[in-house]
Amino acid sequence: MKALVLAGGSGTRLRPITHTSAKQLVPVANKPVLFYGLEAIAAAGVREVGIVVGDTSDEITEAVGDGSKFGLDVSYIPQPKPLGLAHAVLVARDYLGEDDFVMYLGDNFVVGGIDGPIRDFRAARPDAHLLLTHVSDPRSFGVAELDATGRVRSLEEKPAHPRSDLALVGVYLFTPAIHEAVRAVKPSWRGELEITDAVQWLIDVGHDVRSTQITGYWKDTGNVADMLEVNRLVLEETEARHEGLVDQHSTLIGRVRIEEGAEVRNSRVVGPAVIGANAVVAGSYVGPFTSIAEDCLVEDSEVEFSIVLRGASISGVRRIEASLIGRHVRVTSAPPVPHAHRLVLGDHSKAQISS
Ligand code: G1P
Repeated sequence: MKALVLAGGSGTRLRPITHTSAKQLVPVANKPVLFYGLEAIAAAGVREVGIVVGDTSDEITEAVGDGSKFGLDVSYIPQPKPLGLAHAVLVARDYLGEDDFVMYLGDNFVVGGIDGPIRDFRAARPDAHLLLTHVSDPRSFGVAELDATGRVRSLEEKPAHPRSDLALVGVYLFTPAIHEAVRAVKPSWRGELEITDAVQWLIDVGHDVRSTQITGYWKDTGNVADMLEVNRLVLEETEARHEGLVDQHSTLIGRVRIEEGAEVRNSRVVGPAVIGANAVVAGSYVGPFTSIAEDCLVEDSEVEFSIVLRGASISGVRRIEASLIGRHVRVTSAPPVPHAHRLVLGDHSKAQISS
């Protein structure tokens, strides 16, 4: 069995929250979301991984390399244009050969890994096996309808009137039967070759399509509350580890991970929390469910239940909570007078000011 990991996309997204052009590199607890997928693939015993890359190929290649740090053998498959998930299978045809494969969308996060669904698939070996989860608004997903025996009866991509609340999670298990299906489908209303339509084609010609329902699923939709929640879930599993420096005037409580080269001085850190490599926390309080990324500076401040991305600095600010602070952001305290807000905010930023 091989894995096909989709890490393409046009790289045009400029959501200000992360400013990352490769959405697969959005960090969760200081680690790119793509890495959790690669680790889940390795944990399921799959070694050969083809990563489909587009515009952001350089960033992805630099982050993942040859895959050896995950125990994987990674090949890169260029997708000249982001023409859809079924198109990604088309461009990977030679790489995949006649092997079964797991297709994993690199911006999806499956809590608890994929060993279970892979086991189900290997045991029954249907023509395709889907992962599904209940969502509150199915209209932004592919949606599945099951029959009484649990087989997938029909699928629809982003339906205006969903027939169920079961969304397609971005992990699919396929036999080589999918290759004929991806050749058969036509572009959808959004101009893409949809994998949802390809799987519907399998159903229409009488193939066996089954599913596993999972809980604990997340994908970055730019929603800060969701991002804080997945960060919290991952931090819940964090082990305490101290690779940096903690001075004698500091207190660490609970599971706190201090990465290499980080310094905690005269501070109190209450876990679960992560302080990234070469970050400095001085004269501050860092509260539970906080990820401070590498190269950040937190001085004379309080931060709790927040995500602070690489190279950001927070100085002299009392209690930042439920916040997402982008890369290289500088947050400082305002001088007491004049009573006016002076703002330099990037496009589409959101600012809450009590006045
Ligand atoms: C794609 C699929 C959709 C699936 C989703 C999961 O949507 O087309 O069926 O539910 O991934 O991440 P897209 O991200 O292309 O909008």
